[in-house]
Amino acid sequence: MLDRQQRPILATERLRLRAPDAGDVEALVRLVNDPDIARMTTGIPYPYTLDHGCAFIAMVEAADPAHDLPLLIEHQRYGPMGMVGLHRRARAWPEIGYWLGREFWGLGFATEAAKALVEFATQSRGHRVLASGHFADNPASGRVLEKLGFLYTGEVIARASYGRDEAALTRMMVRLA
Ligand SMILES: CC(C)(COP(=O)(O)OP(=O)(O)OC[C@H]1O[C@@H](n2cnc3c(N)ncnc32)[C@H](O)[C@@H]1OP(=O)(O)O)[C@@H](O)C(=O)NCCC(=O)NCCS
Repeated sequence: MLDRQQRPILATERLRLRAPDAGDVEALVRLVNDPDIARMTTGIPYPYTLDHGCAFIAMVEAADPAHDLPLLIEHQRYGPMGMVGLHRRARAWPEIGYWLGREFWGLGFATEAAKALVEFATQSRGHRVLASGHFADNPASGRVLEKLGFLYTGEVIARASYGRDEAALTRMMVRLA
């Protein structure tokens, strides 16, 4: 299913993935305002304010979904939980990224959400190769990617992280369709 701006709405057993809108800002800010989320991601500051949330929604609404597809992870009962996205960075292959609010960690939700986006990217978008990466001190994210069929390329690059205020070593992975 597509929304009015031709962005997908994806359903899994427990979750719905859809583009976030202005009505989601407060919930997103509450979930993402966490130093341990900022530390493990590249582009999320801490503290994360309402202004950051509004700027993020404006960016989502202006984005070309062929290049940047951030989707809200929404639980059927618990509501918004986090975000998963497919992004074109400088590299040739689109990259998958995700975060969840702390109260939802350890329950398989990141894997379930990212799996739906991987399937959409390969089956509906025809991407034969997807990339991702995780900071070397974030094995939980590496495990999520392994469960999705990503393999380590052996490449380790430095990537900036707002949450660390410095670059961190990033282990790159790819998934072949
Ligand atoms: C990383 C993150 C998305 C994982 O979400 P989640 O819903 O808990 O992930 P899942 O439950 O689907 O899977 C986590 C896996 O990592 C494993 N794991 C957790 N902590 C681990 C650790 N310290 N070392 C190794 N594996 C670990 C879990 O056991 C599980 O694997 P299993 O199913 O084989 O048991 C979540 O912790 C998060 O949002 N962290 C902050 C932001 C972030 O790191 N984003 C990713 C940036 S690359």
